[in-house]
Amino acid sequence: MTDEFRRAATSPFDPLRREFLKRGAGTAAAIGLASSTFGTAYARGSDEIRVGLIGAGDRGTGALRNILHAAAPGVRVVAIGDAFEERIDKSIALVESKIGKSLGVPKKRRFVGLDAYQHVLAEDINYVILASPPAFRPEHLRAAVEAGKHIFTEKPIAVDSPGVRQVLALHDIADQKGLKIAAGTQRRHQAGYLDTIKRIHDGAIGEIVAARAYWNQGSLWHIDRQPAWSDGEWMLRNWPYFNWLSGDIIVEQHIHNIDVINWAMNAHPASAVSLAGRQVRTDTVYGNVYDHFATDYEYANGAHMISMCRQIDGCANNISEALVGTRGNSQVDQHIITGANAWKRDPRVTENDTSPYYQEHIDLVQAIRGGKPLNELRQVAEATLSAIMGRMAGYSGGRVTWEEALNSQESLAPGPFALSGTIAVPAVAMPGKTEPKPA
Ligand SMILES: NC(=O)c1ccc[n+]([C@@H]2O[C@H](COP(=O)([O-])OP(=O)(O)OC[C@H]3O[C@@H](n4cnc5c(N)ncnc54)[C@H](O)[C@@H]3O)[C@@H](O)[C@H]2O)c1
Repeated sequence: MTDEFRRAATSPFDPLRREFLKRGAGTAAAIGLASSTFGTAYARGSDEIRVGLIGAGDRGTGALRNILHAAAPGVRVVAIGDAFEERIDKSIALVESKIGKSLGVPKKRRFVGLDAYQHVLAEDINYVILASPPAFRPEHLRAAVEAGKHIFTEKPIAVDSPGVRQVLALHDIADQKGLKIAAGTQRRHQAGYLDTIKRIHDGAIGEIVAARAYWNQGSLWHIDRQPAWSDGEWMLRNWPYFNWLSGDIIVEQHIHNIDVINWAMNAHPASAVSLAGRQVRTDTVYGNVYDHFATDYEYANGAHMISMCRQIDGCANNISEALVGTRGNSQVDQHIITGANAWKRDPRVTENDTSPYYQEHIDLVQAIRGGKPLNELRQVAEATLSAIMGRMAGYSGGRVTWEEALNSQESLAPGPFALSGTIAVPAVAMPGKTEPKPA
């Protein structure tokens, strides 16, 4: 359970519930009707969205619920794959309990194991949701593009530079094949953010000279190791704590806020320095990830972004993005602009916005059915690499440039991954000692 879903555990925020409350009785039909306004009435057939899910955990299950509404009518779940059988069963049971009917995915189209993605992609699907832990994403993306599927990919799209390069190379191939791709950096599909960033791009705050991006929150879930589990199973079930599976917290979670600043800047950072470490989560059950990063990113125009992420209980929480411009400021997450062109988005309008978890699927389905361009692979790859650059700076204690991050050969994986045998936990990075050494 990660990101917004972690928050959902402690708050009533639930995208589906919110939609239901907002739209009132007959909501499922209402959402379906609303989403069908992007296309004229279409029959099942060439317009049908035939979904395959790879990674049936919390987010994958949420995404299934989202696509079922976003693409209705004319959507069908065909196949589901996961490393573990019970995750598929739980996912199907949860979705069925919410929609009040069977999903119609028979056992023969439920695939278990690390190769489940190949079986899902071999089925008659045209829309694949990639929601496994991030380490597998480059390979899953490669296979999905090769198989000619439209893709909804969760973020981040890789955990290291070789993975990012592999995904960047897929961007143009996907375009050549006419594939549509949306990414789970959902703020880019959130009306309030779109409204605010458009004003910033139109010059409302002048040139951006500084930015702040935060994802500071408390600790996460973790699952106690069972005696029968191999190292691989223990790690996979606790994937956020192993940097070669998750990318570490700056890549796995803080990517959202970094992406917003990149979006506003129309650029990625040029370099990073970072003060980071593992202050509280020092036990081996927490694998080898850090619990905080405070990173100073510099963009090519000289603007600096102060970025912070933390997963430590009992501290001040803050998940937000802010900009300082030559003619004003913006608290982007609150959709506020101050200064020469002061503006605040009407909260009553925001309250009625479609949840971005739906909107990202609505936008993707609209692109598919309407033949419109949509390929978010490059932007999410750049956000991923921005976060990786910050992690490299934090781990090493050095200043890391975009080129160094982009060209890095470093792979975090301790070796080929398997659910049997032994896998040693890679060492916790030590600033001043971990490569690349400080420049
Ligand atoms: N956009 C968002 O707001 C948001 C929110 C939460 C999670 N996420 C992202 O979604 C992804 C999944 O996160 P989650 O919270 O659902 O985690 P999760 O642990 O609940 O689910 C991951 C699922 O993938 C399965 N899995 C592991 N390895 C696999 C493999 N090789 N092939 C197929 N399935 C495999 C696991 O068994 C598990 O069921 C992560 O990349 C995370 O960053 C995004």
